Amino acid sequence: MRNLPQILIDDFHVLGKNMPDAIALEVNGKKYSVHYPADTPLLYVLRDDLGLTGTKYGCGEGQCGACTVLISGAPRRSCQISVSSIAGRSITTIEGLEKDGHLHPVQQAFLDAGAFQCAYCTSGMIMSSVGLLRTKPKPTAAEIMQFLQGNICRCGTHPRILEAVNNAAQALREQNP
Ligand code: FES
Ligand code: FES
Repeated sequence: MRNLPQILIDDFHVLGKNMPDAIALEVNGKKYSVHYPADTPLLYVLRDDLGLTGTKYGCGEGQCGACTVLISGAPRRSCQISVSSIAGRSITTIEGLEKDGHLHPVQQAFLDAGAFQCAYCTSGMIMSSVGLLRTKPKPTAAEIMQFLQGNICRCGTHPRILEAVNNAAQALREQNP
C-alpha cells in the first residue's frame, strides 16, 4: 500500500471501518454470510445479494404480500423485516419449496388451477398458503380468504386461488394422512 496515493489509502481505511458486521443467514437450507447495515430489509438481501428474485417487491410497505417468505415456517413480509433480526433463523423462499425436482403440492395446485395471470402476486400467495396449511390442514373457504386477505391480486384471480389452496390442502392430507 506504500506506493498508493495517500487519498486511496485513506479511502481504503474508511471503507474498512464502515464495513457492516457479517450477518449469518440460513436460506432454503443453505448458510450465507452477508454484510449489510442491520436495518436493511430482508427482501433486498434476498433479491440483490442472494439472487432469489422469486420474492417480489410490490409496495415495500407491508400492504401487498408480494414479498412473503417463511421465517421458521410462518409467513412474513420480507420488506418489513430487518436482516439482522432474523439472523440464525430458518428462511424459506419460493425457490426452496420444490424437493428433488418436484414442485411443492401448493405450487402444483396453483399451476393446475391456472391461479394467476401476470403472476406478480403468485410467489407471495403460495408462501402464505403454505404457511396456512402448515397450521390448518383443512381450512374452510372463509378461513382461506381471511388468511390471504393481506395478499393482493390485482388481476382478480381469487376464485382460482381459492380453488388451488383447497386442492393443495386435499393433496397434502392425502400425502400425510
Ligand atoms: S412488498 Fe412487502 S408487503 Fe408489499
Ligand atoms: S396474477 Fe397478477 S397480481 Fe395476481
